[in-house]
Amino acid sequence: MVTEPVRAEALRLAGGGDLPAYVYDLPALRAHAAGVRGALAGTAELYYAVKANPAAEILRALVPYVDGFEVASGGELAHVREVAPDLPIAFSGPGKTDAELALALTPGVHRLHVESPRELARLIALGAPADVLLRANPDLPGEDTRQAAASPFGMDQDGLAACLPLLAAAPHIRVRGLHTHLTWAQHDAPAMAALARRVTSWALPWLRAHLPGLTEPELDLGGGMGVDYRAPDQVFDWKAYAAALPAALPATGARLRVEPGRSLTAYHGWYVTDVLDVKRNHGRDYAVLRGGTHHLRTPVARGHDQPFTVLHRAIAGPALTGPATLVGQLCTPRDVLARDVPVTGLRPGDLVVFELAGAYAWNLSHHEFLMHPPPRFRYLD
Ligand SMILES: Cc1ncc(COP(=O)(O)O)c(C=O)c1O
Repeated sequence: MVTEPVRAEALRLAGGGDLPAYVYDLPALRAHAAGVRGALAGTAELYYAVKANPAAEILRALVPYVDGFEVASGGELAHVREVAPDLPIAFSGPGKTDAELALALTPGVHRLHVESPRELARLIALGAPADVLLRANPDLPGEDTRQAAASPFGMDQDGLAACLPLLAAAPHIRVRGLHTHLTWAQHDAPAMAALARRVTSWALPWLRAHLPGLTEPELDLGGGMGVDYRAPDQVFDWKAYAAALPAALPATGARLRVEPGRSLTAYHGWYVTDVLDVKRNHGRDYAVLRGGTHHLRTPVARGHDQPFTVLHRAIAGPALTGPATLVGQLCTPRDVLARDVPVTGLRPGDLVVFELAGAYAWNLSHHEFLMHPPPRFRYLD
């Protein structure tokens, strides 16, 4: 869906020769974030995973609706501190450098997520107090955790066990609980909540057994709430998710936290461009667009067709109708934004407004390749 303010801005940008452009609808983003926050209220804290879209305007729009920001590098940490100095920060990320570990010990970092026993040892050696969550990647049954189990992220039961003697000798490191991020792109809210229940029913006994002094254990369930690129209007059902989370947890003193990225910001960013050329090559119809995957790499990275809306502007010229492949200006056959998708009367000069471009889009893309100009950025407010 293209909201009215975005449609008007797209036409204005086209009129001024200012395409391609990213356009963000901040009031709509705020309304969405308020809904997520409302659904989770009293059940789980909400942190935003900054890696999804770190633009300062986006972060500022989210500040009133989140409990904190999750960062995954020293760069993100410095950026967030500047944009939102008062908000708690959770610092995660595999492969932290010594400089990043030292940064994590400075004020404002609420929680440091420890990825390995060796990282813990390096943190301990710095000698300063720290509040940490151990990133757990346990062997939980189920298809949805298979990808995590095959990844280098976090610690399996052996890794976690190896942390215990280190912690026993380092009272300045306060373990507050566990961090997990065990699935990606889960569209189904009840399935996501079922995973949360599997995590809590493993994690709380583990914490009780191994860290018995911990009275208010925290469980960060990570992100991974899905955005359906084939059905752009279907939004993750936060109410159903929150309703199915383990309701008894707060009564036990345990605190839940989630740190979604994509499902917060994907819906309210659009990549707007226009058609430069249409052609038929070896039996396939192509529309060649200004810009391309050096601006919006999401469809290549994830292997999907980026959903879009056409705003017809051209009144003459060759037109494509039927399945067409929308490509960019790059000299690579992988510069494909959508493949064999139906279009009707698509002409050079028409606008193509790509949806779900508010997360892992511009910041994920290889901007410098071929030295085309960058897009414009408009934050509508
Ligand atoms: C540790 C961690 N937390 C949160 C996220 C955010 O995930 P998503 O944008 O899918 O919600 C990621 C994404 O990779 C992650 O690695």
